[in-house]
Amino acid sequence: MQVLITGANRGIGAALAAKAQMMGHHVIGTARNLTSPNERIDWLQLDVTSPESVQNFAKSLQGRALDMLICNAGVYPDKGLDSGDITAEIMQNAFQVNTIGVWETIQAALPNLRASKGKIAVISSNMGSSARAPGGSYAYRASKAAATNLACNLATDLKPEGIAVGSYHPGWVRTDMGGDSAEISLEESVNGLWDRFTRLSLKTTGVFEGYDGEALRF
Ligand SMILES: NC(=O)c1ccc[n+]([C@@H]2O[C@H](COP(=O)([O-])OP(=O)(O)OC[C@H]3O[C@@H](n4cnc5c(N)ncnc54)[C@H](OP(=O)(O)O)[C@@H]3O)[C@@H](O)[C@H]2O)c1
Repeated sequence: MQVLITGANRGIGAALAAKAQMMGHHVIGTARNLTSPNERIDWLQLDVTSPESVQNFAKSLQGRALDMLICNAGVYPDKGLDSGDITAEIMQNAFQVNTIGVWETIQAALPNLRASKGKIAVISSNMGSSARAPGGSYAYRASKAAATNLACNLATDLKPEGIAVGSYHPGWVRTDMGGDSAEISLEESVNGLWDRFTRLSLKTTGVFEGYDGEALRF
């Protein structure tokens, strides 16, 4: 398989890239800055908030069929902030990366996914579950809720084209974003996520589930 992973230079994206390589797949990783240590991956520059970068990314992908796109790049700009400190700028940053960035990445890669009826996995979060709603982290929660919403509507529209779409919660993972006191290791998260991705099909398209297979409420 040819797998493309955004934000593959660190955290969950880097661990997913290593996992996909270990499983024998060809990996294209994207990074905002191309100074990555993993030399066995094909790298493309991509800042999901930059129209010019997205355009160049789409051009670089021309003629390359993709079996799987993993939209992993994300930010949590209101982590630890009181609600009163969440400015419009912080809201915009969260939506630009976590929602619009996912949309733009998918639009750019669609011709390549169509070429091999590939799958799309959106790394969202259970923090975006509106049914859960414990309060706080408004920018992150709302932007992830919107990302999950995009994924399930795309699942409907792309099903007739043979493209399955799922959104996934990776668990609370020990990364720069998750922090040292997070619940699970990168290994546990990506092993679970990879298993879920392999089960994604046109029969299950539109799922929102955890790395451990738990069906999550939208
Ligand atoms: N860790 C958790 O507990 C947890 C829980 C639920 C969901 N998630 C989600 O899982 C995904 C990965 O999280 P993580 O913990 O691995 O985070 P991380 O360690 O902070 O890594 C984030 C990745 O996203 C990239 N990125 C940020 N802004 C970008 C932009 N404008 N364009 C392109 N790439 C950009 C970063 O690139 P740079 O190195 O250039 O900044 C980095 O590669 C995110 O979508 C996150 O919301 C994480």
